[in-house]
Amino acid sequence: MSDNNTKVALITGASRGIGKAILLRFAGNGYDCVFNYNRSEEEAKKLIEECEQFGVKVHAFKKDVSNPDECNELVSEAMECFGRIDVLINNAGISRDNLIMKVSDEELDKVIDVNLKGTFYMIRAVSRIMMKQRSGRIINISSIVGLHGNAGQTVYSASKAGIVGITKSVAKELASRNVTANAIAPGMIATDMTDALPDSVKEGMLTTIPLKRAGKPEDIADAALFLASDGAAYITGQVLGVDGGMGI
Ligand SMILES: NC(=O)c1ccc[n+]([C@@H]2O[C@H](COP(=O)([O-])OP(=O)(O)OC[C@H]3O[C@@H](n4cnc5c(N)ncnc54)[C@H](OP(=O)(O)O)[C@@H]3O)[C@@H](O)[C@H]2O)c1
Repeated sequence: MSDNNTKVALITGASRGIGKAILLRFAGNGYDCVFNYNRSEEEAKKLIEECEQFGVKVHAFKKDVSNPDECNELVSEAMECFGRIDVLINNAGISRDNLIMKVSDEELDKVIDVNLKGTFYMIRAVSRIMMKQRSGRIINISSIVGLHGNAGQTVYSASKAGIVGITKSVAKELASRNVTANAIAPGMIATDMTDALPDSVKEGMLTTIPLKRAGKPEDIADAALFLASDGAAYITGQVLGVDGGMGI
């Protein structure tokens, strides 16, 4: 159990990339944390040790967010560990980029199942808890392409646009219980996901960023920490672009 003053964050997909940076930022700022991973067990174990050096408690579980039962289990595990969930960060996500005429039914289902349904399942599972607590922060990781679209990313951008719809609806639905819901729309952030892009695509994207650099996972972590803070208590239903100006 967390003591009364220690807040608890539940972060999905925190074994690598943006989720890892969010986990380290929250642990470094005194949050007890629960996170899940899909395959990266070794990374998860190392991260627990790294986080514990901040003097907080951290637990990791192997759970697939595209499975509703596993999402419910993850939330139950978090409650068993700490007895409360103050912040949920829906970060787990995948991309399967392809021209629309080449997208298979399997690719379509996979991206929607992980990105969109996974976010939905996790919010559904925590909503009752946060409503009962009469407090909570939900932070969903969308994407700039969910707002502006991108050739070759129809499915991914649909999943990320859907997350914006979920965020705004949940913000309205849970506001009376002092639960806020916001989304972050990252631009191009240097992680395994963007590393997989061809160099020509990466170079092309860089020319569209006014700040002339890819973002760091920590840029997103700082935004998430702000949205979870007391200073963001009156912000709900918003989409915060963290994109070096790419979306202007
Ligand atoms: N990088 C960017 O430029 C960018 C831009 C906009 C939005 N985003 C969004 O930011 C989020 C993080 O992206 P990233 O770049 O950090 O990606 P990443 O480096 O590929 O990491 C993805 C994370 O999600 C986890 N994950 C994947 N499928 C999962 C599943 N079915 N169940 C549970 N966890 C799962 C992975 O776990 P394992 O390690 O176990 O596989 C990993 O921890 C995603 O939602 C992505 O769409 C990224």
